Amino acid sequence: HAADAHRTDLMTITRFVLNEQSRHPESKGDFTILLSHIVLGCKFVCSAVNKAGLAKLIGLAGETNIQGEEQKKLDVLSNEVFVKALISSGRTCILVSEEDEEATFVSPSLRGKYCVVFDPLDGSSNIDCGVSIGTIFGIYMVKNSEPTIEDVLQPGKDMLAAGYCMYGSSCMLVLSTGNGVNGFTLDPSLGEFILTHSDIKIPRKGKIYSVNEGNAKNWDEPTAKYVENCKFPKDGSPPKSLRYVGSMVADVHRTMLYGGIFLYPADKKSPNGKLRVLYEVFPYVVLGGTSRRSGFHRQAQGP
Ligand code: AHG
Ligand code: MN
Ligand code: MN
Ligand code: MN
Repeated sequence: HAADAHRTDLMTITRFVLNEQSRHPESKGDFTILLSHIVLGCKFVCSAVNKAGLAKLIGLAGETNIQGEEQKKLDVLSNEVFVKALISSGRTCILVSEEDEEATFVSPSLRGKYCVVFDPLDGSSNIDCGVSIGTIFGIYMVKNSEPTIEDVLQPGKDMLAAGYCMYGSSCMLVLSTGNGVNGFTLDPSLGEFILTHSDIKIPRKGKIYSVNEGNAKNWDEPTAKYVENCKFPKDGSPPKSLRYVGSMVADVHRTMLYGGIFLYPADKKSPNGKLRVLYEVFPYVVLGGTSRRSGFHRQAQGP
């Protein structure tokens, strides 16, 4: 039967989001439009990543970002694509990116009610060797009609929606609008993200721990003890396996599908932890199911 080998009822990400939207009759489709621009950015980055070596996209851009990191060409390109796609959606008012020193305030004529925080290219150290990298994004609703920086300094649990795209052996976009987590795989021949992983739930138990153990020298006592116990369990259970890609998107993606633990603990070198809370950690608060809101709820007083 042809239908056994091929998906014939294609749940594209657009169809999926429109379905969700129809459950919120008050919605005017703004969120759906915003998301389609994010999807476009992800497709562009995916295509750039796939031909990075061929298109001279590997290597440094020559600038340093606000985090003190040397920017890769692909960091800069991805950032530009997302900023432009988000502004042109006409649905955003503030953008915060890892690669931009200041938040971008969208000009009034193109302004919408959503604030987007993002890491355009996560796992930069893996670009040049062709290992999985990603994009992370989180979406807030602006609070006041005149947007201020306060609008993007909101708790992670107040994000409306969040997701990530992993440019791996296949390209996958994982999304939560506050009601479950769903994964879509890019069908390159169609140029469409198709629902392949519905209602993702982390397995209760996992056999993998994922951490940069090269930092062990700088860990505090409880962290060191915890990781030691992964390798030499005191209760007689088998030791866990270590997997560490060094791209958070990929490490967390594997953890969500296979179970286990991912950690990037604070240490003596980075007392506040290395991961950036607004666009690398908060989106996972939504994906983890602890956000209170949904992207479709219309609670904005904003434009
Ligand atoms: P980015 O490439 O966006 O700057 O993020 C890198 C982050 C994250 O992806 C990863 O988990 C972590 O840095 C890896 O750090 P180490 O190389 O210190 O392990
Ligand atoms: Mn970086
Ligand atoms: Mn990152
Ligand atoms: Mn990055």
